[in-house]
Amino acid sequence: MSELEPETPTDFEELDRALPVAQAPVVVASPDIEEPSISAVAPATVFVPQAPTPGATGTRIIVFANQKGGVAKTTTTLNLGVAFKEMGYHVLLIDLDPQGNLTMSQGLNPDTIETSMFDVLVRKIPISDVIERREVDLAVASIDLAGAELALAALIGRERSLEKALVEVRDRYDFILIDTPPSLGLLTINAFVAATGVIVPVQCEYLALRGLVQLENTLTMVRENLNPRVGIEGIVPTMYDGRTLHAREAVEILEENFGDLVYRTRIRKTVRYAEAPVKGSSVLGYDPTGAAAEAYRELAKEVLHGAQASEHA
Ligand SMILES: Nc1ncnc2c1ncn2[C@@H]1O[C@H](COP(=O)(O)OP(=O)(O)O)[C@@H](O)[C@H]1O
Ligand SMILES: [Mg+2]
Repeated sequence: MSELEPETPTDFEELDRALPVAQAPVVVASPDIEEPSISAVAPATVFVPQAPTPGATGTRIIVFANQKGGVAKTTTTLNLGVAFKEMGYHVLLIDLDPQGNLTMSQGLNPDTIETSMFDVLVRKIPISDVIERREVDLAVASIDLAGAELALAALIGRERSLEKALVEVRDRYDFILIDTPPSLGLLTINAFVAATGVIVPVQCEYLALRGLVQLENTLTMVRENLNPRVGIEGIVPTMYDGRTLHAREAVEILEENFGDLVYRTRIRKTVRYAEAPVKGSSVLGYDPTGAAAEAYRELAKEVLHGAQASEHA
């Protein structure tokens, strides 16, 4: 029980003061550099957790975050989740993005959903009331979620709303995977506070790397004020086109800056990932024997072994 108690109960004002700093634009050394200036700052600022730490109950709560849109957060949340389920794990996905793409990708329409994560976070209804059983269990988003940032802002304990909601169901799952909107607002902060780790999907191009400094700054604020255990547990290179020098160099820059945090699996660029959600399916369900499905199975093994390695350390 004591693990559930906030270590710093009334720290919201502190976070308020801290966040504008976290979200300040990253100052780059030279305006006309071709590569991100990240190489100068990233290694020193990145907090490397000992290893992915399971929660108090052993459940791993992984957030997929990157304030850039279109980097495959939603695609990775779904396909990694289904890959874990294939391995026999109990998996819950949570759609925290008001755009509801994860919800849609399981064949549900966020525009007609009546109760959703909005009601869980703001009206405090049990999360089990908004879980749909699809390929994996999914706590759904609706269009209402767009109002959640504003509604949450007025609540006491607004950063811990998701963490509290998860207490009810946490023991039923081995993995809880949370898809977030392309911003570092209160919805994403709620996810970081509830998390045991963060996985960052990054598109394989130079400019995609820049936002990582800002993301890491926000995580530092969350660690200092709200959840000391949270950190980036891995970076997934996505939309990789190995035929282009640009993509290969982008991955090299990632590895130079983030070392072992970068998973070995590259998620290649293929239209399969766009086709599957139209059918309301993961790519593992849509094209089970294809290379696109296999890539997420490989990634699942890597994410899993990260945790197993830590247990034996
Ligand atoms: N590896 C990939 N190759 C090609 N297209 C992809 C890949 N991964 C995702 N996509 C497509 O790119 C778009 C953005 O992906 P999505 O997962 O929605 O990103 P995010 O959630 O970060 O905004 C979607 O249309 C998705 O189907
Ligand atoms: Mg998305």
